[in-house]
Amino acid sequence: MNKVTSQIPSIIAIDGPAASGKSTIGLRLAKTLGYLFFDTGVMYRAITWLALQRGIDIHDEAAVSALAEETQIDVAPASKPDGRACDVLVNGQDITWEVRSRSVDANVSIVAAYGGVRRALSQQQRRVGQRGNIVMVGRDIGTVVLPEADLKIYLDATAEERARRRYDEIIARGGKTDYDGILKRVIERDHIDSTRDMAPLKAAEDAVVLNSDQLNEDQVFERVLALVK
Ligand code: CDP
Repeated sequence: MNKVTSQIPSIIAIDGPAASGKSTIGLRLAKTLGYLFFDTGVMYRAITWLALQRGIDIHDEAAVSALAEETQIDVAPASKPDGRACDVLVNGQDITWEVRSRSVDANVSIVAAYGGVRRALSQQQRRVGQRGNIVMVGRDIGTVVLPEADLKIYLDATAEERARRRYDEIIARGGKTDYDGILKRVIERDHIDSTRDMAPLKAAEDAVVLNSDQLNEDQVFERVLALVK
């Protein structure tokens, strides 16, 4: 905790595996504190979407890394009341919902394992995060992007529970999906994310680990709020 300037932590990092509730809890926390919410996963998703869109081979590390270096990604306040937490823009184009597509889901962890992509994106994330008054969510915020964060939380749950939540979320939005496919992609993504060489998914040594298997959203939020205060 940053005890010199404030009792409330200024930089809050929330990490954890796919669909562990980081974004829901992080957004709620940011709104409560009047902080900026920054979901770093959308940046990896944006590069993956653009690579697929341009027909770049996802396995071509050099080409995908070059794309990450030259692409302008912007995250702006939500411009439409369609359930989005924020707008995601790539080179000025709104791709907020495109980055949630099944093809992006299936390829994003391959892209996020590339050193060149991580260097390009985490530098930008660090610059924004250092300004403080921020809730930043991802996989490596507490370990690599902002190791100096005042509070680090690692949100976890079983793959089955996380897949069930992601399934409910998509159905509630009026989408179509199948639970088994989601579970398979969640497990695959977790595997790639936690075994990659650079900035693998893991809890920072000084992170508070919260398992949400037996907790609903309000209960998780209450615990997070208690940690903040
Ligand atoms: O929302 P969900 O947990 O499904 O995923 P996300 O947070 O949008 O992240 C999508 C992917 O981006 C992850 O599976 C990671 O491969 C990658 N990612 C990362 O490597 N580092 C981050 N700080 C955030 C996301």
